[in-house]
Formats: sequence, structure tokens, C-alpha cells
Amino acid sequence: MEPIIQLDGVGFRYELPREGKSDWSLRGIRLTVHRGEHLAVMGPNGSGKSTLAKLLNGLLIPSEGCIVVDGLDTRDGKTLPAVRRKVGMVFQNPDNQIVGTTVKDDVAFGMENAGIPRKEMLERIREVLDRVGLNGLEASSPHHLSGGQKQRLAIAGVLAMRPEVVVFDEATSMLDPAGRKEVLQAMEELHRTGTTVIHITHSVREAFCAERVLILENGKIQWQGSPRELFLQSEEVCRWSLEVPLAVELKNRLRERGLPVRQDIVGTEELVETIWTLLSRN
Ligand SMILES: Nc1ncnc2c1ncn2[C@@H]1O[C@H](COP(=O)(O)OP(=O)(O)OP(=O)(O)O)[C@@H](O)[C@H]1O
Ligand SMILES: [Mg+2]
Repeated sequence: MEPIIQLDGVGFRYELPREGKSDWSLRGIRLTVHRGEHLAVMGPNGSGKSTLAKLLNGLLIPSEGCIVVDGLDTRDGKTLPAVRRKVGMVFQNPDNQIVGTTVKDDVAFGMENAGIPRKEMLERIREVLDRVGLNGLEASSPHHLSGGQKQRLAIAGVLAMRPEVVVFDEATSMLDPAGRKEVLQAMEELHRTGTTVIHITHSVREAFCAERVLILENGKIQWQGSPRELFLQSEEVCRWSLEVPLAVELKNRLRERGLPVRQDIVGTEELVETIWTLLSRN
């Protein structure tokens, strides 16, 4: 698999560390993100997830080590605008990301700054609003949209810049269940069409959609593997204060009662099937 982002020995410390916190918010990060990958990043509060996200698109520059995005070193000021176009970010709060008075202006904002010609801009606006399902709302005020729609608008603005990678930093955490679903669907669509997706989340269910999960703890990568592997390690999952999926919890209880339920079950469907088989045996 071809790498799209490579981090080598990356450390970061903020100029003014918060009281009682260690100097280094991230330390010794070695990581390769592959082109087209769907990566979930999890870990306790303050473990460095948002710092990592900001380093990936050059909002922050490593204090040590280096990050190369699609061949560009983020320490090189000359190519930094290109890095920021390549790695789009969608943040947690839908309201903080609105920059235009209409949906159309909002999507146009980044492109105007990048000096994209008007004709091209109009084409891209149509294309990206279509992709996130907001076509027909061009003239609406973003403030009147639902939370899920606002986040989809933020995604449209990012997509208009034709990014290689989109980082979602807890982009679903302030939404109601319907809004979450909309954003997760948009994320899946991006992945399906070849965009690299990095999804920072506290939600185990959301991390399940990813191909690889990375756990940060105290600024270090503590673990990485498939979502399935993660939930077979219940002790660690507790230590990292991640919530265990319902199916895993139920499986553990059934096994405690001595029922013949396989240890490697992590999904609801597999568990239902197993219970069904158990019931039909008696
Ligand atoms: N602007 C800042 N100035 C100083 N220290 C900061 C700043 N932002 C974050 N930190 C510190 O860096 C560390 C990592 O913070 P970061 O926000 O990256 O964690 P996080 O994993 O995203 O947490 P959360 O789950 O709460 O969003 C923490 O110790 C935090 O206190
Ligand atoms: Mg954060």
C-alpha cells in the first residue's frame, strides 16, 4: 500500500504547557497512513489526538521529527498551503465552522482564498453539495441548517479543495443520532471513493467502521490493530476507558455462565447467530 502521510520520530510541545501537564503533548510518534485507508484514532482525554490532527495538516509543526504529506515536509513553509489543501479538517462544533452567510458562499470561502477561478468554483460547489446531499440549499442560511447538515456543509467546504485526506476530529460528538448517521454516511462515501479518512472518536461503534484503530495514551501510540482485535482485549479497553460494545459485554456474560460462546465474537450479528444456534439446540 502506498503511503500518503508519514510521521517519523514526531514530538510536539506547546509553547505554554498547561499547568500540571507534561511538556510533551506527543512524543516518539512513528506512523504511516496509507492512501485510501480509513483509520480511527482513539484514546483518553488529553492523550494528544487533536494535537496529532493539527500536525497532520500543518496547523502545528513538529517540535522534533518530521511529517511528510504526499511528498511534502510540513516544516517547509513554501509548501504549507499545499499541505493544508491536501489534508482537510472537520472539527467538533458545527457552528464554529460556518464562515459564509449562504450555503454556497460557505463552500466558496476556501476556494476564494486559494484563488480558484469563478467558473471552476461554481462547478465544484455543485459537485460537492451533490456529494454531501445538500443540493437545492445553495441560497439557505447555514445557521438554519440542522447539526448534521452543518457538518455536511463543513465537509463540502473541505471537499471543494480536493483533499487527499480528511481528518474528522470528533466531528459527530455534538450531533443527535440522526446527525451522526448523516456524517458517518458522508465519511463512508469518502472512503468508498478513495479519500483517506482519519476519524478521531471516543465512540467504539464509530471506530468499528475503520480498517485500523490507533490508541494514543499520554502522547504515545499505545496500540494499533483492527477494531476486532481491539475488543478482544477487554482489559486494555477498560484501561483506555473506551466503552465496550454491547455484543462483547453480552458475550462475556454468557461465557461466564459457561455457555459455549466463541471468545472471538465482537459483532451483534455474530452474537445473535450464536444465541439463535444455542436456542435451537435445546
Ligand atoms: N493550546 C494548548 N496549549 C497548551 N497545552 C495544550 C494546548 N492544547 C492541548 N494541550 C495539551 O496537550 C495535551 C494533548 O491535548 P489534545 O487536545 O491533543 O488531546 P485530545 O486527545 O484531543 O483530548 P480530548 O479527547 O479531550 O479532545 C494535553 O495535555 C493538553 O492539555
Ligand atoms: Mg481533542
